[in-house]
Amino acid sequence: MRLIVTADLHYNHPRSKAGAIDLIDQMNRAGGDVLLVIGDAAAADGDELEQCLSRFSFAGPRLFVAGNHELWTNGPDSYELYHQVLPRRLHNLGWQWIEAEPFVADGLAIVGSVGWYDYSFARDSLAIPDRFYEQKVSPGAAERLPELAHLLEGSDVSAQSREVIARWNDGKFVKLQRDDRTFLEELISRLDSNLAAVGAADRIIAAIHHLPFRELLPPSRGSQWDFAKAYLGSEKIGQCLRRHENVTHVLCGHSHWPAEAQIGGIQAINIGSGYRRKIFRTFDL
Ligand SMILES: [Fe+2]
Ligand SMILES: [Fe+2]
Repeated sequence: MRLIVTADLHYNHPRSKAGAIDLIDQMNRAGGDVLLVIGDAAAADGDELEQCLSRFSFAGPRLFVAGNHELWTNGPDSYELYHQVLPRRLHNLGWQWIEAEPFVADGLAIVGSVGWYDYSFARDSLAIPDRFYEQKVSPGAAERLPELAHLLEGSDVSAQSREVIARWNDGKFVKLQRDDRTFLEELISRLDSNLAAVGAADRIIAAIHHLPFRELLPPSRGSQWDFAKAYLGSEKIGQCLRRHENVTHVLCGHSHWPAEAQIGGIQAINIGSGYRRKIFRTFDL
């Protein structure tokens, strides 16, 4: 079985759309037995997600996992989007929302999760207190935002951390109605159940938008990027995956940084597609 995979097409982003169209054309020519898109195809508002996914001319099963950008909305509720609206939209397009319904065929199972973050990948050397990560602004950015001045009260905000000026835009556009750690726990519990449900499969492929393993993190590129590491994923996702012995491959996206690592019996691969450079991979399983 040939699996053809991409992530991070970011079709609604002006700097990214032409590359996304070109990559989809390449994937249409390449073909395969099963198509898998691991999130960040487009933001939720409007119909660019439909426009993007409709460009795939693929006869076989088409599997989709959400990214954080599918939860971006100017509306009030990303949680409802994730659980109700997006599964319906994908179904109407003829795609399988594998977070609710894992794919199983010929002894192979493919499970998925958007994954999320709990700041466990935050860089200790930045010495930024947790309340900044929760608000998704660095101390230097909070200094410029009067409504967040209260975060700077206290003796735990170092001069060094005030030099970091960065925001993570999920803070503006993702409204989960619960904190990040609670959302992550819910997702892991669902992933764990889905993995157990397909446990009889000879091999399991897990497609997770956020990074499940520290070994896939990009190298250091300055303090702004180091701040962003808090939002790249969580080692708790990896711990869940490792509890299920038939998981042979873990595929992810999100960091826009191609990376591979062998974690016990698991081959972990970040597709590495990004705004400027689009990548797809094929796997013969
Ligand atoms: Fe992305
Ligand atoms: Fe992402």
